[in-house]
Amino acid sequence: MCGIVGYVGHRNARDVVIGGLRRLEYRGYDSAGIAVPGPEGIEARKKSGKLANLEAELEAHPIPEATQGIGHTRWATHGGPTDENAHPHLSQNGRVALVHNGIVENFAELRAELEAEGIEFLSKTDTEVAAQLLGREVAKGIDVSEALRNVSRRLTGAFTLVAFDIEDPSRVVASRRNSPLVVGLGEGENFLASDVAAFIEFTREAIELGQDQVVTITREGVEVTDFDGNPAETRPYHVDWDLSAAEKQGYDWFMRKEIYEQPRAVADTLLGRFNARGELVLDEIRISPEELRRINKIVIVACGTAFYAGMVAKYAIEHWTRIACEVEIASEFRYRDPIIDPMTLVVTISQSGETADTLMAVRHAREQHAKVIAICNTNGATIPRESDAVIYTHAGPEIGVASTKGFITQVVACYLLGLYLAQVRGMKYGDEIKSIMDELMGMPEKIQQVLDSIEPVMELAAQLKDEKSILFLGRHVGYPVALEGALKLKELAYLHAEGFAAGELKHGPIALIDQGLPVFVVVPPQGRDQLHEKVVSNIQEIRARGARTIVLAEEGDTVVEPYADLWFTLPRVSTLLQPLVATIPLQVFACELATQLGHDVDQPRNLAKSVTVE
Ligand code: F6R
Repeated sequence: MCGIVGYVGHRNARDVVIGGLRRLEYRGYDSAGIAVPGPEGIEARKKSGKLANLEAELEAHPIPEATQGIGHTRWATHGGPTDENAHPHLSQNGRVALVHNGIVENFAELRAELEAEGIEFLSKTDTEVAAQLLGREVAKGIDVSEALRNVSRRLTGAFTLVAFDIEDPSRVVASRRNSPLVVGLGEGENFLASDVAAFIEFTREAIELGQDQVVTITREGVEVTDFDGNPAETRPYHVDWDLSAAEKQGYDWFMRKEIYEQPRAVADTLLGRFNARGELVLDEIRISPEELRRINKIVIVACGTAFYAGMVAKYAIEHWTRIACEVEIASEFRYRDPIIDPMTLVVTISQSGETADTLMAVRHAREQHAKVIAICNTNGATIPRESDAVIYTHAGPEIGVASTKGFITQVVACYLLGLYLAQVRGMKYGDEIKSIMDELMGMPEKIQQVLDSIEPVMELAAQLKDEKSILFLGRHVGYPVALEGALKLKELAYLHAEGFAAGELKHGPIALIDQGLPVFVVVPPQGRDQLHEKVVSNIQEIRARGARTIVLAEEGDTVVEPYADLWFTLPRVSTLLQPLVATIPLQVFACELATQLGHDVDQPRNLAKSVTVE
């Protein structure tokens, strides 16, 4: 939530900062702002609404050329999305400009302290408190890095702060606690940003910062300390994707591009998982086989789409390992005093690795001495850093707010974990694991087949664009797929959509079925545990009540055909792997329907990617 950029170097800061904000706009788009040092003091421009409004403001009222600057794109928490509440905030004495991501929880008491000293606040934000405190510190003659350390020690909550002092504009300083911040290392220039996408155009060398650290960047170098000024250890890394991954490359939306990247994303997530002996290897797992053998319960914790990936994973993990597996929404987890202990394996799933609810769940689990494995797509993010081990999904940057390739690769990574546990605990023979892995390896091709025959889904979206409600049904692993299909539609098309377990419908929700109501049904492959027949019966039940059934079923499924008003063929796969193909048409449907409605698919209203507040 909120995108932050800081720059010191030799280029025009306006171009670097605005370019960076454009790549971070997915993190929040309620307002945007920029500040640079000018000959007569700090020059700041800020505007509510999307970045385009700020760009228009900069055309109308240009800022001077400068080689350092800071910028911000906002997802509002404290104070509405107005020009006044937009960042950067300036201290009353005009010394500092500051941007912030997170929530300063003790802002009310700090604001009262500052107001008692005669400081007048111009905004309703918690951020302005930090700007005023920093302004007060530098006015005492303290250098801006030290001043920021002093301020950071006084704040509680989550924050990334980036600031500069007009009297020392050769440096830009930043601090972080519970909120993301990375440093980009250039030649004669350095960068700060919420994520590497902001500076990937200029450098792929980055430094990951730890908790409670303050960083100072100048043209020549980077200095990192803890909040007390002690030099801090950092981890440099090379970003393994480039600018092209952060651009639309001819697609109308990032989301559509990311949908089409799924075959590649799955292949990359599966890459290099076998050793010479034909065993499944997960190099990243730093938990010993002995410890994994002692585990007696798995708890998967995640939010939103990642939670649905966890729901899918539960079926596979329990089936393959015979370890009881619970799945829980991260924001509920720690508040109900969950029963976890050193024998529990907690698996968190987070594309961004920064989701505050999930991060708090990680901390709670570790306090109870449970082992925590993170499944994450973002190298060096806070959640994997604070976990015992990590399995990275190699989806590449996901910029569309609605998760697509994130979800599919999370399911794949969970399956790898499930198979690995089965191997370590001797629950499956090597050839059984190999045969499932072979099927997984074939999934990129199957996903491509779905994408190659997606045209009817696009046509359907055009037909259904005026519907007020659409339902999604599934059973077994098809149930979370139905939930995910409904979530995609809610967040992108803003229409009523709900997913149900198909068998549960008759216990109440069937009353929603009305003449002509479109209902998507995910039909499991034929011939296993009567699951298929049960879903076919469920389809008949809703059809008898007037529903228009849109069926996703495997090729050659002649049993379901007579009950389908519309039918999309899925490639033949086993039941547990079906979500990897069945989700694709639902993603495309939501993307296309929202496009037909004229919505901004990549930046749906009220949402932001990477939800870094609880
Ligand atoms: C929906 C969506 C969200 C995220 C959720 C968790 O399309 O993207 O529901 O899945 O906010 O985000 P991560 O995976 O970054 O923890």
